[in-house]
Amino acid sequence: MKVLLVGSGGREHAIAWKIKQSPKLDKLYIAPGNAGTQSLGINLNISDTDIDALLNFAKERDIDLTIVGPEAPLASGIVDVFSEAKLPIFGPRAAAARLESSKSFAKKVMKKWDIPTASYTSFDEPLEAIAYIDDISSFPTVVKADGLAAGKGVYICQNRLEAVSAINEIMVEKVFGTAGTTLVIEEFLDGWELSAFVFTDGKSVSEIVAACDYKRIGEGDTGPNTGGMGAYSPPHIWNQKIKDEIMNLVVKPVIDGMRKEYEAFTGTLFAGMMITKDGPKVIEFNCRLGDPETQVLLPLLKSDLLDVAVACANGTLKTSDVEWSTDASVAIVVASGGYPNSYSTGHKISGLGNLDGKTKIFHAGTTTNPEGDVITNGGRVLSINAVSENMELAKSTAYADARKIFFKDIYMRNDIAKDIG
Ligand code: AMP
Ligand code: GLY
Repeated sequence: MKVLLVGSGGREHAIAWKIKQSPKLDKLYIAPGNAGTQSLGINLNISDTDIDALLNFAKERDIDLTIVGPEAPLASGIVDVFSEAKLPIFGPRAAAARLESSKSFAKKVMKKWDIPTASYTSFDEPLEAIAYIDDISSFPTVVKADGLAAGKGVYICQNRLEAVSAINEIMVEKVFGTAGTTLVIEEFLDGWELSAFVFTDGKSVSEIVAACDYKRIGEGDTGPNTGGMGAYSPPHIWNQKIKDEIMNLVVKPVIDGMRKEYEAFTGTLFAGMMITKDGPKVIEFNCRLGDPETQVLLPLLKSDLLDVAVACANGTLKTSDVEWSTDASVAIVVASGGYPNSYSTGHKISGLGNLDGKTKIFHAGTTTNPEGDVITNGGRVLSINAVSENMELAKSTAYADARKIFFKDIYMRNDIAKDIG
């Protein structure tokens, strides 16, 4: 098969690494990819949001399957455009991707099928949102931009002043552009957070798996939100009861509801969950694999990812098609100092040749310079993953290699998968 993979992060390097193991793969193209994907296929100089260029390439090269990593092209309708051109593609159509691209749509779906989530109200006018805040008696409360804001459009507000300032940033200053035209104010959920995933063809779903992501930049979950600074799987609180509850109360109602009332959801459903004292509640839905969750989960996938993606795209998925290992998996993200605010790039990465082969290195913000050196090219630069029979060993193996890597201003959290017992 000739496969086109869309995206350039650590998630896409992990997808490329997994696809590369399939005996069915003939040729892999990555648009645009990074220095890591370059050794697994052919990187293309096409942006992951340039749907016309991606379509032309897929037509010219007779691509058998396109796999989409990030949310932006899904929200813009890449699956609709490819499907009309009869090109098989893995991921939801734009109308189904609204589960991620519109928080108010996701809330409407959850209300309709009684899916447990934080109570909320949405607003189109800043003054109405402020009036609502004036009536709130208990904090924290959560203020969110309705649209896609790269994980940064969420404010956990401890008092009225913080909430008013969040409303101003989102709706008046428009720091997230049109993603902030509508705003959601919701109940603060307290508990253990985890990211749950299923593959689906719109009807059948695979067994549910989960990972914990470390979203804040600082140790002890301090500082601003990032795309994710590390992850581990399975979550230490993961058990059959939680799995069954998420499957029966969340995943199945959403997949069935989307198919019956809106647009069938195909691809990967990612449910961001809070496990509260009253049971699991949905924080948000995403319409794709997570980053860095993918870097911990795909090394645990026993099945051929190409088979799974084809079955999801063709509507022939069987639950038994997707098998997972029960091992422990940890990923440490190494980032450019300064991220998620401003940081410098172009620094030579050393130490990659000194690793002992027990870890997998997934590149994210990397590229090569004209001399062929791997250099930094983004905020999150690499993730270092280890799989083991137990979490302690997976963690110490991943950290041992992460600490052998060096570039100017390198930063990592030292508490990934720590204190989880
Ligand atoms: P999101 O962009 O919706 O994933 O939100 C980013 C992060 O904010 C989540 O991963 C949670 O850690 C936190 N968050 C979002 N909504 C809530 C909520 N209702 N209660 C508590 N934390 C939340
Ligand atoms: N790591 C969270 C996400 O991919 O949205």
